[in-house]
Amino acid sequence: MADWRISPTLALNDMVAQRQERGESIVHLGFGEVRLPAFEPLVDRLVAGASRNTYGPVAGSQAVRQAAAGYFTRRRIPTDAEQVVVGPGSKPLLLALNLVVPGDVIVPKPARNTYAPQAELAGKKVFRISIPARAGGVPDPAALQDTILAARALGRDPRIVILTLPDNPTGTVAPPELVREICALAEQEDLLIISDETYRDVLHDPRTPMLSPAEAAPRRTVVTTGLSKNLALGGWRIGVARFPDSLWGQRIRDGVISFASEVWSTLAGPMQQVAEYAFTEPQEVRQRLADSARLHGSVARALHRIMVDAGAVCRPPVGAFYVYPDFNPVREKLAARGVTDADTLSRHLVDEHGIVVLGGHLLGDDPTALRFKAATSMLYGDTVELQQQALAADDPAKLPHIREVLTRLSEAFTKLCG
Ligand SMILES: Cc1ncc(COP(=O)(O)O)c(C=O)c1O
Repeated sequence: MADWRISPTLALNDMVAQRQERGESIVHLGFGEVRLPAFEPLVDRLVAGASRNTYGPVAGSQAVRQAAAGYFTRRRIPTDAEQVVVGPGSKPLLLALNLVVPGDVIVPKPARNTYAPQAELAGKKVFRISIPARAGGVPDPAALQDTILAARALGRDPRIVILTLPDNPTGTVAPPELVREICALAEQEDLLIISDETYRDVLHDPRTPMLSPAEAAPRRTVVTTGLSKNLALGGWRIGVARFPDSLWGQRIRDGVISFASEVWSTLAGPMQQVAEYAFTEPQEVRQRLADSARLHGSVARALHRIMVDAGAVCRPPVGAFYVYPDFNPVREKLAARGVTDADTLSRHLVDEHGIVVLGGHLLGDDPTALRFKAATSMLYGDTVELQQQALAADDPAKLPHIREVLTRLSEAFTKLCG
């Protein structure tokens, strides 16, 4: 029997629940779930869609695919409804892509922890490539080229590269010139690009330049996205894949639809109703997206400052709700506390300070590095009222209930590195 392991983030949640049951006070930075209330107009669409109880087309209704096509087209990626498939989250769509497209998979190091296990479930070998100093979510171009050559020399066949823009776990977005460089390499080496753009609408400043690989390499880029992060709908499971307008793109899309027809049949009708509305992006949805992005940015920047003040190096976050600090500059001080790698660092943080993070080793990073991912998305308040306050505030990090947690974090990291 294969070695099936639960996703490390879900295992972490179990650990947090057990500690909380024992009465421990925990600050949970280990899970990228957005603890914000569902936006009321989305709930209205869900209720209105409840009577949609037939299966419907596997790829999604014409109306929802048309809405998603409009969403991409407004982002400089001209799209026809025929290029879109909606499904129950982007995760199963990514798995379908892994099963449909042959060849091995290249992922950045670190990367979202789902990519590698999915590729392995599909029988592929995973090549992890370090990220550039400026931003994560894309592999370093020189290392990418070297790895492809080395892999081929060993008889492997890397065919897919997965990029994340903006990135989980670094909270950065690769600059356009870097995206162009990777796209040129993908052209040269005949790779399919899967561009996970789930956090595209969580850029803290909408003026931050972002180039989708689908603009730079339109014939060979599949884009995935969804509503889990930008509209805090993780549990509603709404995902989208957008395929290239080419024969290749059409063949991959047909494969994904065929897989979907045997596994999930179609995205639930009420969810299609929600997605159709959300992807049409009426003014109230745009406002909610802007409020959420401001909140994520404010708290992520505050957490970044805490990490840097404690002695870590850390790329400044510009998107999503993560920071990915590196405590190597204070390695000796940490060693005196028995902290020598990502695993002991994350264990020390929970045992001594009640702070839960996701060690970089669980994201494919070097286990000896003193790096971890910290998500801010569960710090916005324990009640709907506090969460609404956080959404409405000009500078949410200054709200008393958020400042209280940030102060606790600041004291803990100062002590850890002192
Ligand atoms: C990079 C990235 N893509 C997608 C998702 C969401 O996946 P889904 O659409 O299946 O909820 C996440 C959630 O952690 C993520 O970090």
